[in-house]
Amino acid sequence: MDSISKRCEQNEGEEANLQKSNQNFEEFLSTLPRVYGKTPLFDCYLYQGCWYHPSLLQGVIAAQQQFEAQPTDVFLCSVPKSGTTWLKALAFAIVSRKKYSDHSSHPLLHTMPHECIPFLEADVVTKEHTNNRTGEFQLLATHIPYHSLPKSIISSGCKIVYIFRDPKDAFISLWHFASTVMSKDSTHIPLEEAVELFCKGVSYYGPYWDHVLSFWKARREAPERVLFLRYEEMRKDPLPSVKKLADFIGYPFSVEEENEGVLQKIVDLCSFENLSDLDINKKGRHRPETPYAMDNNAYFRKGKIGDWRNHLTPELAERLDQITREKFGGTGLPLYVSDANSHGNETHV
Ligand code: A3P
Repeated sequence: MDSISKRCEQNEGEEANLQKSNQNFEEFLSTLPRVYGKTPLFDCYLYQGCWYHPSLLQGVIAAQQQFEAQPTDVFLCSVPKSGTTWLKALAFAIVSRKKYSDHSSHPLLHTMPHECIPFLEADVVTKEHTNNRTGEFQLLATHIPYHSLPKSIISSGCKIVYIFRDPKDAFISLWHFASTVMSKDSTHIPLEEAVELFCKGVSYYGPYWDHVLSFWKARREAPERVLFLRYEEMRKDPLPSVKKLADFIGYPFSVEEENEGVLQKIVDLCSFENLSDLDINKKGRHRPETPYAMDNNAYFRKGKIGDWRNHLTPELAERLDQITREKFGGTGLPLYVSDANSHGNETHV
């Protein structure tokens, strides 16, 4: 067992301890394993086997203690940098399409997708929203891994949509995000160092691979409750995945809608090319008054498959591929390895 796994075991009971002793959060944090880094990316605390930035961990614990999911809820889940913003835009556009059939005044033209669908650990629990629910359908998002989700999400049977991506592209996206966006003094963390930490599992909501596997296991146990979407498949041919998404969340497209091009219009509205070119996403700021304040353009970088090739040496790519082979091999998940001969184990998810 590696040292990180050992430490995971140590803090599995920490949620209960926090509740019991009414420790304040700062004290609680000081009991958790921590990694200090040159940028906020690698300033993380280990809680229940997952690395969290302290500003979000408090929300994670509050959600675990207070959030009451309803069977009608749909959760959009992901590791950061896997396509969350895109999934939010699509899901929002799908469920609100009757209300906003005229795309010239669609909210996504002047609202950043993260503002359209709340984040459980950042928005929901802090707004005392949880206990005033009336059973209406609601879309929510979270980066919490499956094994740490609030129990009511599992027991209520609500649906989960999971988007994932080649770990190498997710890593490069995160590295850019941390190095150029979050780091106020533009400290550029050396790529080799960042790869090393990422491989050890140290990244927001990491280990990346365990996060994907936690939902994959849930999907195997209850396929009717968990939908997997693969970023690369969506990027190459979005229509089938968007149709699947609409069916899954209970807002299927009718034949008439498809014939009228409603599905295609939603795909176009939510495309990287369209959203990233809007003023709101070029110049706006998300949650400006909070610790998670961020320029909206940080969520729209390149939107490409395989951008890792522009950054990772073959050796560094192999470091990541090796873990992907070890962790995803035999599971049916794509192996995403760099050489062209290794697609034998893939399932279309
Ligand atoms: P890159 O950094 O590789 O460009 P998240 O939303 O989970 O933070 O993920 C961000 C990644 O998704 C970024 O990847 C971003 O450019 C990409 N992205 C954002 N909006 C997108 C869209 N509408 N279509 C495709 N990719 C999108």
